Amino acid sequence: MTHQQSNQNLHWWQRGVVYQIYPRSFKDTTGNGVGDLQGVIEKLDYLNDGSTDPTSNDIPKSLGIDAIWLSPFYPSPMADFGYDVADYCDIHPLFGSLETFDLLVTEAHRRGIKIIIDYVPNHSSDQHPWFIESRSSRDNPKRTWYIWRDPKPDGGLPNNWGSVFGGPAWTWDEKTGQYYFHQFLKEQPDLNWRNPEVRQAMLDVLRFWLDRGVDGFRMDVIGMIIKDTELRDNPPNPDASPDLHPDDIFGRHLHLYNEDQDEVHEVNRIIRRLLDEYGNHCAIGELWCDLPRWVKYYGENGDGLHLPFNFRLLSLPWNAEAIRQSVEQMEAALPTFAWPNYVLGSHDAQRLATRIGSEQARVAAMLMLTLRGTPTLYYGDELGMENGVIPIEKMHDPQGLHFGPDRNRDVCRTPMQWTDGPSAGFSTTDSSTSEPVEPWLPVSADFESRNVDAQSAEPTSMLNLYRRLLWYRRATPTLQAGRYMSVDAGGDDCFVYLREHPTGKCVMALNFTDQSRTLSIPNIKNGSLVISTYLDRTETVSNSNLSLRPNEGVIIRIE
Ligand code: NOJ
Repeated sequence: MTHQQSNQNLHWWQRGVVYQIYPRSFKDTTGNGVGDLQGVIEKLDYLNDGSTDPTSNDIPKSLGIDAIWLSPFYPSPMADFGYDVADYCDIHPLFGSLETFDLLVTEAHRRGIKIIIDYVPNHSSDQHPWFIESRSSRDNPKRTWYIWRDPKPDGGLPNNWGSVFGGPAWTWDEKTGQYYFHQFLKEQPDLNWRNPEVRQAMLDVLRFWLDRGVDGFRMDVIGMIIKDTELRDNPPNPDASPDLHPDDIFGRHLHLYNEDQDEVHEVNRIIRRLLDEYGNHCAIGELWCDLPRWVKYYGENGDGLHLPFNFRLLSLPWNAEAIRQSVEQMEAALPTFAWPNYVLGSHDAQRLATRIGSEQARVAAMLMLTLRGTPTLYYGDELGMENGVIPIEKMHDPQGLHFGPDRNRDVCRTPMQWTDGPSAGFSTTDSSTSEPVEPWLPVSADFESRNVDAQSAEPTSMLNLYRRLLWYRRATPTLQAGRYMSVDAGGDDCFVYLREHPTGKCVMALNFTDQSRTLSIPNIKNGSLVISTYLDRTETVSNSNLSLRPNEGVIIRIE
């Protein structure tokens, strides 16, 4: 692997670390049980106070992230919690107003934090004025802004495509006698990106937010925005599990015609050109496809997305060899202009600590913050937050309601745990009754011990591990820009790799097991062990035998 860059040449979205905020669940300042943008403003110093010295060895108070990605805050009926947008250019009153948003941008920028917002191009809400017009009559000028089809001659659905959230992807409109297409809920009709007017309108949306000072966009299911021109039937997926829910039509198909059509790259190029006109902005795309198709999203000459999200580590079994292979395959697939990235948690996935266990979650933190590429962290993972337990009567997620608790995404959206007080410090008290407010989802039961205050006071907590790793990364060009190489240290249940840069080398040795291991690492004599995931040792490493405790990861700096 030979990719290496001088860190002076890196863009902010290469050097930095992105932190995803699910605004409903971060901090409620209005006492309605739902988080808001003012809450994000109030917690900016927690994320990065803009003043901490990155080279200090003390554990800083502030996390030290570089950018926040905000999940949707737009006006929305909330059928899919904001991923059903009824107005792309405003803020839902639950979250604040455009003035609050402007203040957030100003306050974030003052601290050196970039703002990335969610852009939902594939579908709008069925309550968006465009769709209301579109469904009003067959000859309405907005009819072709969405995807309408007649039934098949035998009266059947236009094709066999399934909705991600269950059932067919087509809903019959009685009034105009046609079906409309929705890749997700029937309340989320798909926009027709083959219509130049739609492209224009959606590019104007980007301009609207760029003019307000945003630094980048995370683009929802970007690979789905262009469909096959003939809307051909998808073939069955021979590997589909026989245990799929009977209604999971989407899961039973190979997605040959509803996503990853060649023309999507042309749209990405247009979006990218617009972003470039505004300067150094960042385009991130949500993509779920195999490596050869995924790599195309960077564009032929790097003129596509900056960061097509790399979700591979999310679904792999948590073992050193599988993770190493995935990293190597991705590094090998990347053209020189393409920058890697890693994701280990999101508002759609099981909590990291639940998936891999709380001890290994510390190893995962070190992995994420030392691999080559941009990490995206998910709020609360820095505390080791686990899946919430959501009683059926408190379930909100449409996917969970349709397919059952196993696929309920509410579990990873529970309120951020700030203190051991009422609602974990997420909400305020009700102004009329002075009673604590009940958050929109139940706070996890472990909040009394697992919260920002408690973990700040405990020197070796998960939060302090994240802080230490984040600030070490900020101060170490090798970890930002150095090339990556895996190291054979004997044994395949540990993952050992080197990052190399003219300013120095770092070796990371991660023990993926719950037993001690002794590794033989070539060429690390005269190294300094600078961080252990236990946060309890720093020492000189004077020979190549390195002992790791169960679930321990270390960074060794070699000058
Ligand atoms: C992907 C988003 O991450 C998810 O939360 C949402 O439900 C779907 N796209 C539909 O917008």
